[in-house]
Amino acid sequence: VISTELIASRIENLPTLPVAVSQLIRLTASNETSLNDFEKVIRPDPALTANILKTANSVAYRGVREITNVKDAVGRLGMRGVFDVAAGYAFAKVLPDRLPGYEVDAHSFWQHSVAVAVFCQKLLKNSLGGQAPDLAFTAGLLHDLGKLVICFFLEEKASEVQSVLDMGKLTYVNAERKALGTDHAEVGIAVARKWSLPHAVGIAARWHHQPDQAPDADRQLANGVHVANCLAHTFGFGADVGELHRSIQPSAMSELRLTVKDLERIASESLGEIYDLSAALASAKGAHQ
Ligand SMILES: [Fe+2]
Ligand SMILES: [Fe+2]
Repeated sequence: VISTELIASRIENLPTLPVAVSQLIRLTASNETSLNDFEKVIRPDPALTANILKTANSVAYRGVREITNVKDAVGRLGMRGVFDVAAGYAFAKVLPDRLPGYEVDAHSFWQHSVAVAVFCQKLLKNSLGGQAPDLAFTAGLLHDLGKLVICFFLEEKASEVQSVLDMGKLTYVNAERKALGTDHAEVGIAVARKWSLPHAVGIAARWHHQPDQAPDADRQLANGVHVANCLAHTFGFGADVGELHRSIQPSAMSELRLTVKDLERIASESLGEIYDLSAALASAKGAHQ
């Protein structure tokens, strides 16, 4: 078991978010934010600007006027759309090239995160009558945030975790808990706090493997991330060793009024967007170009 102090110091030492992104987080939390405020924060950051322009001119907007400045891009994408792009940009920036303990490279981790984000938004849109909650995409994208910290400790315990998994009785989260005394979901909410991410994003990270334990106010979001995560693994987006042993909580399916048929349809509708976004957002990091 790893001491909480050691984990806390790892969280403390994580890279900070790009300044523009922290400012956007603050702006989205306020009711008096205007598109103008958004534009002012984005414009000084050339890489973020490039990402936002790219998204505003992506396939989803094919056939309409090309956008060449931040102001129009913010107008087209809306504040939430811009925030989603910014969250992706920030996340790509802080991703290490490899997550040692999970035997996964940044690209696979990224693609898994993007898949969960897209699935989560579509699932919740389907379940909640056409309008997904504001943070559906971002909560999906950042659900495995805790892995950025846990991966370094897992490496030392790899054989222990593997033997627990080989017995076939424990899920990956429980194997982490057994070896380390904590897991990536619990660490995830701590990272969300360190980065001052919106509260609901932290809650969804905390409960994405056990959404039935999420507080009522954020349970549908946790349900959405949970189902989206299972769906992502099922469709091969997620190269984690060990996450093979997983199942969807029945309560998440029933609370979202989802059937297996819905899952199949939503998954097939999402694939194009996932590939598109994995390429578009990964360019924020530069390494995958
Ligand atoms: Fe997870
Ligand atoms: Fe995941």
